[in-house]
Amino acid sequence: MSSTIAELERRRVAARLGGGQNRIDAQHAKGRLTARERLTVLLDEGSFEELDMFVEHNCVDFGMPETVIPGDGVVTGSGTINGRLVYVFSQDFTVFGGSLSERHAQKICKVMDMAMKVGAPVIGLNDSGGARIQEGVASLGGYAEVFQRNVLASGVVPQLSLIMGPCAGGAVYSPAMTDYIFMVKDSSYMFVTGPDVVKTVTNEVVTQEALGGAVAHTSKSGVADNAYDNDIEALFAARELIGYLPTSNRAPVPERPTADAWDRAEPSLDTIIPDSANQPYDMHEIIRKTMDEGDFFEIQPAHAGNIICGFGRMEGRTVGVVANQPMVLAGCLDINASKKAGRFVRFCDAFDIPIITFVDVPGFLPGVSQEHNGIIKHGAKLLFAYAEATVPKITIITRKAYGGAYDVMASKHLRGDLNYAWPTAEIAVMGAKGAVEIIFRGLGADEIAQKTAEYEARFANPFVAASKGFIDEIIHPHATRRRVALGLRKLRGKQLENPWKKHDNIPL
Ligand code: HXC
Repeated sequence: MSSTIAELERRRVAARLGGGQNRIDAQHAKGRLTARERLTVLLDEGSFEELDMFVEHNCVDFGMPETVIPGDGVVTGSGTINGRLVYVFSQDFTVFGGSLSERHAQKICKVMDMAMKVGAPVIGLNDSGGARIQEGVASLGGYAEVFQRNVLASGVVPQLSLIMGPCAGGAVYSPAMTDYIFMVKDSSYMFVTGPDVVKTVTNEVVTQEALGGAVAHTSKSGVADNAYDNDIEALFAARELIGYLPTSNRAPVPERPTADAWDRAEPSLDTIIPDSANQPYDMHEIIRKTMDEGDFFEIQPAHAGNIICGFGRMEGRTVGVVANQPMVLAGCLDINASKKAGRFVRFCDAFDIPIITFVDVPGFLPGVSQEHNGIIKHGAKLLFAYAEATVPKITIITRKAYGGAYDVMASKHLRGDLNYAWPTAEIAVMGAKGAVEIIFRGLGADEIAQKTAEYEARFANPFVAASKGFIDEIIHPHATRRRVALGLRKLRGKQLENPWKKHDNIPL
């Protein structure tokens, strides 16, 4: 008996060593943690329960039978984050470069299947040289098995990917189908084809970091959501994000105690809107002053800064926040902002997270490049997302709500449940000057100025919209938190269903 237990322990120790001390040292020398160290940081202390530690590859080519490493390059199992269950896989670069074999894929699929059965998030820590080259098509099949599960899990359990090393070729498509992607700066990269292929095909010379590093993907492409300086920061951020999310689409949003009074008044909001309509202010301030304890987890902070998306809490319960940011492009909606917020709204709707929308939008961004790159189709994504969302939707117009963008931003007409406006709101087809120049074309400068003043007096306010019932109430800015909290309480029992369909046809 004792010898069999000793054998088990011996095998466990060997498996935990992965590809060996030299490769572990090499991983550390790159400033990266090992697969197991990462799980220790990610999960509550002592909560990790490993599965499939002794799985081995089944490849018989290229001398592979002589190199068998238990676990086969990925550590899988479950654990808790702040006491809540999550399933995890963590690719081990010290074992065949973390490359994905048939068995490696089976291990990932097993934890994904378990997560789906019980309704728990899946967190993938990616650090891999891609398909296990020695296995060929068996490895490609393994990827596709993972892809299929990513799709079936989408909208059922939250899926989070951390890119903590290489992630290239078709391997990028598993993270791409998860809900959120975090990357580590100067240490991770994602691309479909690397710098060498790019050079051969297009003659462009580019580094890995510039082509597919954390900064490129979290600012330019928007493929990844958030970038962090090192493994530890990324893992802590993952813990924080998971803390906001329900464990599945069958579970309620998490709730935690808060000392922040639900009816806390914020007098500073009464003066936050500048006197001049063209002067910006920071929408983050309004968001933070409304949310519990000023906490706000922003998604894609470096991409499409003209719209802000992220999670906060009201009375301890998670809400999704979408807000135009007057400090960037005057808060206009453009292609990137529409895509970013459209996806965020759909995530919230899928997981029953109420959406709070702060509006200060002068319209869609004009321009040849916007039109030619499809602002019509991309703008429609955000419109579509808001219109199909059945979760509680509370909208606060702080200043401008012009044109089609007024409609898009969770307006009453898109089934907004509570549509509030501050007294500073201006709800109109367009800005006064532009409107007058069209209606009264040919008038002199003085007359234009007079007509503009008249138009402003008539339309640059929330009262016209309120008189039609498009705005439910004009509220004091200082009372915003109280009104939102009350609204959310009353909307907890909201029931709304869209007509049956196989699925919709959102303009992709
Ligand atoms: C098998 C691999 C491997 C792979 C790396 N290794 N990638 N083994 N299959 N795909 C092994 C190496 O042989 C080496 O083993 C160890 O992992 C570490 O690799 P190094 O090259 O020494 O590390 P580094 O210098 O850091 O370079 C990392 C790397 C490079 C950039 C990822 O290894 C690389 O380019 N690998 C090949 C990438 C690739 O072409 N993958 C297939 C893409 S196609 P030893 O024993 O020496 O330590 C693909 C299709 C997916 O993924 C399609 C899905 C639909």
